[in-house]
Amino acid sequence: MSKLWRVGNPLGLEMQKAIKVKDKKRKKEIRLGQRTPTVEMDDPISQEIHRRGDFELNRIYCGDCLEVMQTMPDEFVDLIITSPPYNFGLDDYEGHDDTRSWETYFQWLNEVFAECYRVLKHSGRICVNVQPLFSDYIPTHHIVSQQLRDLGLLFKAEILWEKHNYNCKYTAWGSWKSPSMPYLKYTWEFIEVFCKGEYKKVGRAENIDITGDEFKEWVYAKWDIAPESRMKELEHPAVFPEEIPYRLIRLFSYKGDVVLDPFNGVGTTTLVAARLKRNYIGIDISEKYCQKARERLREYQLSLF
Ligand SMILES: C[S@@+](CC[C@H](N)C(=O)[O-])C[C@H]1O[C@@H](n2cnc3c(N)ncnc32)[C@H](O)[C@@H]1O
Repeated sequence: MSKLWRVGNPLGLEMQKAIKVKDKKRKKEIRLGQRTPTVEMDDPISQEIHRRGDFELNRIYCGDCLEVMQTMPDEFVDLIITSPPYNFGLDDYEGHDDTRSWETYFQWLNEVFAECYRVLKHSGRICVNVQPLFSDYIPTHHIVSQQLRDLGLLFKAEILWEKHNYNCKYTAWGSWKSPSMPYLKYTWEFIEVFCKGEYKKVGRAENIDITGDEFKEWVYAKWDIAPESRMKELEHPAVFPEEIPYRLIRLFSYKGDVVLDPFNGVGTTTLVAARLKRNYIGIDISEKYCQKARERLREYQLSLF
């Protein structure tokens, strides 16, 4: 409590006591009800039945993410990091129709998330970067979060990625100087984080690579990170900066874990995962983007010698 508060409010301490919640644990149990899902993990025979062939790690797969994920075993992946196409109507996406009705779009996204749920391990995490299209008044981040909850995933966090993107729609005011229809502007995006089955992910201490300073900074869920400035060079219209998967991977996974990006684009997630000694799987529908993702990985591997 600051000194100023105590001086100005002689009853400050009492007021603080009054808002303390007693018996927090019991109240939490009442609020959550019987929600904690039970997942049977230790039956090797039933896990064997669910396995679908051998799936190769540390590869970029070119194809439709639903089709590729359907060839993956259940409970295979520790962390999914992804930024789906936003249905903004981008023309320069290779092989992807970025203008569909919102209903069709969200139905399709839900199918992709259902498959993500299946391939995630118990206690695995999924981080979905969402840029809401506010000009259509579609609250995409709310819809996506609801979809993930409806699939049975547990809400963990919403990270506000502050891009300081003041260029966005700079001159679109809606109704200039009038309350009739002002246009609100957003310089940020969201990252919705969900867990499968339980919040706690157990791993070996020697496989933790986040530092104390990084941990202290990143648990504050507003991340100031500049947008990727090399989109022209990377020949992709919607690349996220390496700092995004870098933080998510170190905060939510252990070295040696499997990281998947089903909309891998030019491979930012897979590049960072390889650097951080995670196993990676990248999927994208565009051969051109997959080639770029492989090229970035090759350059990194060559830089090691
Ligand atoms: C927002 S971008 C992801 C960019 C990526 N985060 C990066 O840093 O390069 C979305 C990607 O989804 C891909 N895509 C669209 N439909 C797809 C599908 N059905 N299966 C797999 N990838 C798809 C697009 O080609 C595009 O590269």
